[in-house]
This record gives sequence, C-alpha cells and structure tokens, in this order.
Amino acid sequence: MGQPDSTKRRASKAPRAEVKSDAPLAPKADRRPPTTRYQGSKLSLLGWLHEHLSTLDFDSATDLMCGTGSVAYLLKSMGKSTLANDALRANFQSARALVENSTEQLTTGQVSGLLEPYAADEAQLSVVASEYDGVFFLPDENRFLDRIVPRIARLSSASRAIAFHSLFQACLMKRPFNLFHRKNLHLRTAKVARSFGNKTTWERPFEELFQRAVRETNAAVFDNGRVNQASCSDAFAVRVATDLVYLDPPYLRAKGSSFRYADAYHFLEGLTDHDEWQTKIDRSKKHLPYRAAQSSLEDRKHGAEALSELIEAQRSVQEVVVSYRSAGVPSIEVLEKQLRSQHRKVRVVHKANRYALAIHDSAEVLLVGSRPKRVHG
Ligand SMILES: C[S@@+](CC[C@H](N)C(=O)[O-])C[C@H]1O[C@@H](n2cnc3c(N)ncnc32)[C@H](O)[C@@H]1O
Repeated sequence: MGQPDSTKRRASKAPRAEVKSDAPLAPKADRRPPTTRYQGSKLSLLGWLHEHLSTLDFDSATDLMCGTGSVAYLLKSMGKSTLANDALRANFQSARALVENSTEQLTTGQVSGLLEPYAADEAQLSVVASEYDGVFFLPDENRFLDRIVPRIARLSSASRAIAFHSLFQACLMKRPFNLFHRKNLHLRTAKVARSFGNKTTWERPFEELFQRAVRETNAAVFDNGRVNQASCSDAFAVRVATDLVYLDPPYLRAKGSSFRYADAYHFLEGLTDHDEWQTKIDRSKKHLPYRAAQSSLEDRKHGAEALSELIEAQRSVQEVVVSYRSAGVPSIEVLEKQLRSQHRKVRVVHKANRYALAIHDSAEVLLVGSRPKRVHG
C-alpha cells in the first residue's frame, strides 16, 4: 500500500441539500457511507463510480484527495486495501473513522461522557466562545464546542475519529450553506420569512445532531479483511504504491476561480487543534480562518499546471482514475492526452450531474487510464 512521505499531521445562494448515496455498494450491498454536506462529495455518485471501477483489475487503491472519504469507503467496500489521504486535518479524522477503522464504534457510555456538563475539576477552555462570538454559532453552542472538543481529544484514535467526524457533520448541518467561508451567523438569526427549511435544522441542539451523526457513523463501520489507512498529507508528498490511484481534485473553473477547501472548512481544522487554535487565527479576515497552506491545485493562475504535475507523478501507477467536470480547467481533452502520453488506454465517461452546492451545471466526467498489463512467461 502507498505510504505518504509525511504523516503531518462563493457559495450558492440556494440552501444546501444533504447528499445521500445513490446506490447500494456491491459486493457488500448493505454498506453505505454516512450522509454528509461536504462540498464536492461523490456520495451521490458512488453507484456510477462503482460501475466503472468494478471493470478494473486492482487489489489496492489510494484516494489521494479523499474529502470525507466516500470514494475511499467505496473502494474499501469493494474489498480493496485502501489508503485515504487529504490535506485537511478534519478529513483525516473522517477517513480514519470510516476507512482505516474497521472495528471500533463509539459506545453509548462514551457519548454520554462527551455530553456531560463540565465537571468541577475540568479546565474550561474557551477558544470558540472567546474568539468566535457572533461569528458562526450562538454563545451556548460555542460553549458546547469548547467543552466537547478537549474530551474528544482524550479518546483513543478510532473513537476520537468517530466523535470528530460526527461533530463535524453536526457543525455543517447548523451552518448556512454548510460552510465557514463568511462571518454570517446573522443569516441564521435574522427574523425573516424563509422559503426553505434549513432553519429548522440550524436550531436543532448540537447534542441531538451529534448523536444522530454518531449513530450513522457507527453503523457505517465495517471490516473488509484488509489493511486500510488514512493519512493527512499534501497530495504531492504521497508516493502512491497501490495498483490504482483515484484523483478527485478541487474544481477549477474556466474563469479561474476555485472553491478553496481550507478556507471553507477552516473552523473544523481549528476544532482538531483546539489547544493551539488561538495562535493560528488569521485576524486580518472577518471570518477568522485557521491558517492553513493553500493548495496549489486551487490556485487561480497555476492550478491547471499543478494538476498536470500531479497526474504526471502517477505515471508508474497501473490505473489512474480522475473525477472531473466537463467545464473544468485544464480541459478533458488535455487530461486525456496526458494520460495517453503515459502509454495508457483511456476511457472518458460522462454523467449529467448537479453538485449539491453547484452554481453552474456541468457534467460529471470520469477519466480512466489503464496501462497495458505485462504478460509474463
Ligand atoms: C472534490 S473534494 C474531494 C471530495 C471527495 N471525493 C468526497 O467524496 O468527499 C477535493 C478535496 O481535495 C482536497 N485537496 C485540495 N488540495 C489538496 C492537496 N494539495 N493535497 C491533498 N488534498 C487536497 C480538499 O481538501 C478536498 O477535500
């Protein structure tokens, strides 16, 4: 299995819908990753992806920019030894909970412990309450986060990952647009007539949403009998050593703008680094982002070049599978040519799709580049 070199650790005006899986995941038809509201999640496309991935001959796979891990979860459900990697710390926790973890579930006792009021001798950290007052959540909710996060941090690795993943889902459910890209709590608190029902979810208590997410996450844990791993590295630092690499890069539009994941989900990054968070806040911006390296793949000027470089780095991998958009930059023709230059047979398959969060429609595309297998003997 591929090992990372290091283990370092404009949004639509429309309300966002929860994304659900589109089809059962053969061969384990009962396996479904939990619902999520993550931008660009492939959850609703897993059936389609499975249709194409299952035609390929491979035993191990790397999901190099795995987001919340839905495709890595699919690969795991297909019985492959799977590495799920993402540059974001929060996604690393999700991948650890759903892909790396094969056996542990968060117990009812652990959940009760996480939700208890402060104990008399418990240190009361207040980074969210003091730094993010009026920014993303209500005061009581900020205190809830300050209380639960240090407790989550004390759990053992797989339990911690399930708790973090569940907390992230609760946070996303309570946010307008399910993002942290703007200081916009007022969108939630304003007394205005609304034509959509998200307000109801925003006002559900954290405790309830968290427990709901834990139940869903627990139910998704399974063992495929293989070793699976999660890692948190820049994709360029991962030397892929699996039979297949799956790339689902940030979508760079023709006009050059890209969704910036580290900016949109910075608050979740902060939750994973509660002790150090205060020192890593960029106070020059109103939404107080947790400072993180910007991905070269999201860079307006050099993103297209960076993607070509990343694909070039996969030259020796047997199967290269790229999820892409018909209006993406570089064009599909350019990517196809590049894969062919690696002596691959290339298939390009199109599926009409609308991202849960998309502003402009563009078709979902899959490029599958396979190197001819050597015949021995
Ligand atoms: C389109 S999303 C992937 C969605 C994922 N397939 C899913 O189903 O949830 C793109 C992901 O690329 C990650 N990313 C962006 N630049 C990266 C880099 N240089 N290295 C690793 N991950 C990166 C982002 O954090 C984001 O999670």
